Amino acid sequence: MMPHSPYLSEETEGASALRFYNHERAEEGIRELATWLQGRRIAVLTGAGCSTDSGIPDYRSEESLKRKRNPIQYNQFLRDLSARRRYWARSFVGWPRFRDKEPNLTHQILARIEQQGRMTGLITQNVDRLHHKAGSSRIVELHGALADVRCLDCGLFEPRDDVQARLAECNAAWHAEVLSIAPDGDVDLPQEAYDSFEMVSCLRCHGPLKPHVVFFGENVAQEVVQAAWEIVLQADALLVLGSSLTVYSGYRFVKGAAEQEKPVAIVNLGATRGDPHASLRLDLPLKTVMPHLETLLS
Ligand SMILES: NC(=O)c1ccc[n+]([C@@H]2O[C@H](COP(=O)([O-])OP(=O)(O)OC[C@H]3O[C@@H](n4cnc5c(N)ncnc54)[C@H](O)[C@@H]3O)[C@@H](O)[C@H]2O)c1
Ligand SMILES: [Zn+2]
Repeated sequence: MMPHSPYLSEETEGASALRFYNHERAEEGIRELATWLQGRRIAVLTGAGCSTDSGIPDYRSEESLKRKRNPIQYNQFLRDLSARRRYWARSFVGWPRFRDKEPNLTHQILARIEQQGRMTGLITQNVDRLHHKAGSSRIVELHGALADVRCLDCGLFEPRDDVQARLAECNAAWHAEVLSIAPDGDVDLPQEAYDSFEMVSCLRCHGPLKPHVVFFGENVAQEVVQAAWEIVLQADALLVLGSSLTVYSGYRFVKGAAEQEKPVAIVNLGATRGDPHASLRLDLPLKTVMPHLETLLS
């Protein structure tokens, strides 16, 4: 069966070799994935789809695309003080909910697969640190993590929880009525709440603070990209889990693996930009695939 993917056409090179499975042949697809994994050391690339079962929404599933979101751009954060203040006010309210999210079965099974020596490492586009919480050890966080904050001037790192405590102190009398709240903790507040919110600055140089995540319009640091390439280079194959691969910073590893003639398998609900490079494609929910896969591998 051919997948319905806007990324594939009859002319797409390699598409004829693609084996595609959805709910109609889930069992067969998962068995094939288990066989694909046997005897290989794999690099794993994960995206927001890995964390939806932990209650953190992704950006590009059909459901999420219906919600209008307007994430802050890097330049705006740097240059527009009121936008920066708005960001910190929202994240002050939203952080405790985000921080308390727990890893799900996919995170836990990936940690166990690593312990079995089947993986060279894990590259994640997620900023939620749930792979760490689940016990994976070799992890490259391509887009950083919300749990870290960094000074824009001197580069000093500070844990987000410490910044949160300082923000709470400075804003002891501040109260905002929450207009709406997304499951990832992002909130909407009234304008006057933004105007009266006090930001805190670097403990060392008083410079402005930014969460250590890659914003839209910002580049991934070269050493981070390099560390991720090491994981791919040392692997025999690449497995992608829960990413639309729309963002180039993740997609490049799929393209690169294919160029190195390493097999690529993708488990994702819905089409991905990497589909033309995959030889095995499961259009299935991770909670259906992962526990079954683990049983087949044991
Ligand atoms: N958890 C997080 O940290 C988080 C959440 C949202 C966005 N982001 C950021 O936004 C960017 C989003 O890119 P992306 O490619 O990671 O995500 P994306 O939103 O572009 O794609 C996620 C894909 O996962 C699929 N999916 C959702 N739940 C699934 C499930 N249970 N099983 C299988 N597939 C599932 C969706 O259909 C979608 O195609 C990333 O760069 C990331 O930094 C991070
Ligand atoms: Zn500083």
